[in-house]
Amino acid sequence: MKKVRKVVFPVAGLGTRFLPATKASPKEMLTVVDKPLIQYAVEEAIAAGITDLVFVTGRSKRAIEDHFDKAFELETELERKGKTDMLDVVRNILPRGVNCVYIRQSEALGLGHAVLCAREVVGDEPFAVVLADDLLDANPAVMKQMTDAYDYYRCSVLAVQEVPLEDSRSYGIVAARPIGERVEQVSGIVEKPSPKEAPSNLAVVGRYILTPRIFHHLAESKPGAGGEIQLTDGIAALLSEEQILAYRYQGTRYDCGSKLGYLKATTVFGQRHPDVGTEYRAYLATLDTAETA
Ligand code: UTP
Repeated sequence: MKKVRKVVFPVAGLGTRFLPATKASPKEMLTVVDKPLIQYAVEEAIAAGITDLVFVTGRSKRAIEDHFDKAFELETELERKGKTDMLDVVRNILPRGVNCVYIRQSEALGLGHAVLCAREVVGDEPFAVVLADDLLDANPAVMKQMTDAYDYYRCSVLAVQEVPLEDSRSYGIVAARPIGERVEQVSGIVEKPSPKEAPSNLAVVGRYILTPRIFHHLAESKPGAGGEIQLTDGIAALLSEEQILAYRYQGTRYDCGSKLGYLKATTVFGQRHPDVGTEYRAYLATLDTAETA
């Protein structure tokens, strides 16, 4: 029985909603307080026992490679200055035994195409897909909740949450029926339907566990909504052959691909940060007072 050991991080999107910040720097390097989004995502995958990190990168993605690489000059300088706390922070970005692979998606042809780019590296085993711009605040980590579900049911698992029906155009929406606590059997999936066409209000968020058969369907996929090769269309085709489950994860999601979601995450994570949380909370309280005055 194969465990989920590999995760694909598609980080080759254009991030147009965050321009100009994303003109020369990837969206996944935006920081929430002091950590880039991609590091939160990597930590979540590692918490689920995943050891192989596959980044599908695009133009101007050097920053991500550099972030997870050894930084000789910086480490030497921190050592020389005796800044051991910071040295630990920099050295422990990735634990031992975790491997990184970088693959280039030369054109942003869609999320499905980005996942397909990882085919050779993933090979014939189940794998996770994590979209780092969905920051999921949860304990246990959402990917751990999902690998537990995978270990039990042995089939593809999609993280879902309920959304207001009027927001259906922003998501892949599933038709599903409950089969266990938090677990539903998927019978259909549609990318960005209108509220009228949406089969439910259960939206897929940026966490997936997929069987390797998905690659076959992605390779066959024609461009769908927005002229891109959609992961949703590949999943819809996989559904004709295999069982797929929707998993109502426990936790809070911040859509950090949108400005408002990103600001919400920064506010919440800032208030609980060990270095600045207390002062930040006090500062926010003065804003409340100023507003009501
Ligand atoms: P989004 O739909 O959020 O697109 O992609 P985007 O380009 O990143 O952002 P906007 O909408 O223009 O602001 C969902 C995920 O898929 C990745 C993105 O990096 C993001 O993690 N992606 C998307 C790719 O890796 N390649 C693509 O061709 C498209």
